[in-house]
Amino acid sequence: MKQQHITVTPWAGAMGALVEGADLSQDLPDDVIAEIRQALLDHLVIFFRRQEMTPEQHLAFARRFGTLNLHDQVKGMEDHPEIIEVRKEPQDERNFGGAWHGDVTYMEEPPLGSILYAKEVPPVGGDTLWANQYLAYEELSDGMRAMLDGLTVIHTPAKIYGLQSQDWSKDSSVKTSPNETAEYETEHPLIRTHPETGRKCLAVSGLFTPRLKDMTEEESAPLLDFLMAQATREPFTCRWRWEAGDVAFWDNRCTLHYALNDYHGHRRVMHRVTINGDKPY
Ligand SMILES: [Fe+2]
Repeated sequence: MKQQHITVTPWAGAMGALVEGADLSQDLPDDVIAEIRQALLDHLVIFFRRQEMTPEQHLAFARRFGTLNLHDQVKGMEDHPEIIEVRKEPQDERNFGGAWHGDVTYMEEPPLGSILYAKEVPPVGGDTLWANQYLAYEELSDGMRAMLDGLTVIHTPAKIYGLQSQDWSKDSSVKTSPNETAEYETEHPLIRTHPETGRKCLAVSGLFTPRLKDMTEEESAPLLDFLMAQATREPFTCRWRWEAGDVAFWDNRCTLHYALNDYHGHRRVMHRVTINGDKPY
């Protein structure tokens, strides 16, 4: 679809669109930013190709959509703390984001979205998948939706970054290690209403959501396992094969994503900037 300034071409049936006609290194006019924002709301993840941005330009583009997030567990770049360098070296075993999740959903106000910029990619592999959480909710039965509405789910970084977590520093280049600051919990609605579109979506987040409020993990597991399977059903997904210079901008409020770890022996370097969001309701 041709908007006034950019061209938006759907990428998969469920979600995703390629956006052409915008140079993200530039200080884009407000109406172009508005078109990009609308494309994000319509398609949930948008992709840009052949971008050349400095870290400052990447940050400046992201700031057009909100204030920037500092990850509470992973250290940002030395000179640019709001940029997380997602680096996997040839000898690293573990990758960052290698399971279905939403980014830092355990925050009181989880992010609006992230803008991920590919700096160095393997010759093949390292694709990212996203899943549409509006569809995950809408495709449930009336009875199931009625049962889920009003439930509260516990979010926590503890299993990924807490004292009992697998130490990232042993087998990855991610700048964090098990620590007690990850030992906290947050409560969010299991079914969330998107603050801009008004549509309802499912809001589970893999290992960040270990149980429902007032239930044990064991009691919660059958339902949460079913919901994670529902959240990530193939017809609800899209997949991006990266080239250096590509940018993906996703709406973290209504999607999950998964970074494939299928390129052992190669380096992959991405820059992630995350935009603050608001309290789910
Ligand atoms: Fe992620």
